[in-house]
Amino acid sequence: MSAALEVRGLTKAFGPVVANNAVNLTVRAGEVHALLGENGAGKSTLMKMLYGVQSPDSGEIRRDGTPVTVNSSAAARALGIGMVFQDLRLVPALTVWENVALHVGGGAVLRRKPLRKQITEAAQRYGLAVHPDARVADLSIGEWQRVELIKVLLGGARVLILDEPTSVLTPAEVDGLFTVLRQLRSEGVAIVLITHKMREVRAIADRVTVLRGGNPILEDVAADDISAGDLVTAMVGESVEVVSNPGAATSEVPLLELQAVRLAGATGGLRSTDLVVRKGEVLGIAGVAGNGQRELADLIAGAALPDAGEIILDGERIDGSGPAGHRAHGVVSVVGDALREFVVPGLTIAEHAALWAHAGGERGFDARKGGAALRAIDDDIGLAIADPNRRLDQLSGGNVQRVMLTLALGTPARVLVVSYPTRGLDVLTTETTRRLLMAAREAGTAVLVISEDLDELLQISDRIAVLAHGSVVRVVDAATADRTSLGALMTSHHDDHDADVAAATDAAA
Ligand SMILES: Nc1ncnc2c1ncn2[C@@H]1O[C@H](COP(=O)(O)OP(=O)(O)OP(=O)(O)O)[C@@H](O)[C@H]1O
Ligand SMILES: [Mg+2]
Repeated sequence: MSAALEVRGLTKAFGPVVANNAVNLTVRAGEVHALLGENGAGKSTLMKMLYGVQSPDSGEIRRDGTPVTVNSSAAARALGIGMVFQDLRLVPALTVWENVALHVGGGAVLRRKPLRKQITEAAQRYGLAVHPDARVADLSIGEWQRVELIKVLLGGARVLILDEPTSVLTPAEVDGLFTVLRQLRSEGVAIVLITHKMREVRAIADRVTVLRGGNPILEDVAADDISAGDLVTAMVGESVEVVSNPGAATSEVPLLELQAVRLAGATGGLRSTDLVVRKGEVLGIAGVAGNGQRELADLIAGAALPDAGEIILDGERIDGSGPAGHRAHGVVSVVGDALREFVVPGLTIAEHAALWAHAGGERGFDARKGGAALRAIDDDIGLAIADPNRRLDQLSGGNVQRVMLTLALGTPARVLVVSYPTRGLDVLTTETTRRLLMAAREAGTAVLVISEDLDELLQISDRIAVLAHGSVVRVVDAATADRTSLGALMTSHHDDHDADVAAATDAAA
């Protein structure tokens, strides 16, 4: 039997960058095929060619054994190929059903009623809870992704491409997604999944293909036939040493203090909160996104003014001084969603470096200076960023994250606040980043790490504060904490929150 989708010798270059070099891929109906590789390996480029967003320089694509030309995403959809992009692509101002109509319509007039019914049916069948009349702008990122899935499935996809779907999901949402994927697999859908997480490969992949620097390294290997260690070596060319917090010598000196700060927010906000970050410690913030993380990060960065309470750095009150004021006091912060919040379309990496320096108090914008400084920092800290003269919006997702981290970690800081620091990073760069956070800790910086990855927090934190429903419910010693107890702290309150939301929804209906 021929494969649902086959790629033979696909090659694609962007100027001097060969993103795919004679790549092969075989995806069968009823299997989950994991596509793996370090940042910039060419994974997204390969998928974009399969979905008709980019055209190959040479090579062949076959669908059910027949050679096909996929020169537009409409052509891909007509061939039953659907894709959920790394950066989700819905129209926020429209409702769920309107977004689905745009996707499956193909120019035809679509009636609201039957389409709503179809959406509701698909939602029920696959356990993808979303309301057809909800406005997409009001949905969480996990809900956005469910809408994307419904959209693609109603579009008739039998080959489903998912580009790092889990990097923006909570652990519970990942489980939910995998349940859907297992069901689709049993219905004979061919699934390509891109991920950097070995745990996920183990959980769901039947077969794997690995790219490195655009070259095929492993092709169509059964997932059970290869160890996690061998996979990592195939991806990055070396074994990766896991970083952990040495544990000793945390000072007791409080450096940053939040005193009864409160901030209203889109998702419930932050309730009156007290929190202390000590000099030379990593304080992890655990919790399901949307429970006050955003407000906490914005307050510390000076991007939002507290509705009440005070922020004190080394005995001095700093709230009210704005982002530039906080930065001048040595508070450096990194946003959680680089693609959406950091990238300025059209600008080079060097120009982003100049923007960053400007935000740090430098007069004017000097891209040449910014680029040179960035190169020097990169040599020092080793996240291996791309040429500063390249456009940031043309880098791969993980390489954008590396640029943002290099700017932040290369800036002397008394307080460092990082949200989801390893999002989108490959396995090697993830550990390098954690090592850099440990180095900042050693240097006496007060480091605050917001993450949903409990393993990550347990690995690098001294203490972990659990955030739920807009409040810090407990601060625990990381050395004695474990996944189960943290998970329980996170979810007991979250269930209450869900009940609140359900009650509100019922009341509105
Ligand atoms: N539109 C483009 N213009 C120029 N270069 C591009 C473009 N798209 C991708 N590239 C380059 O092609 C290479 C492969 O990028 P790609 O996005 O496929 O990597 P990836 O494997 O998906 O990485 P990541 O894990 O970081 O998402 C990178 O060097 C990237 O900068
Ligand atoms: Mg990618």
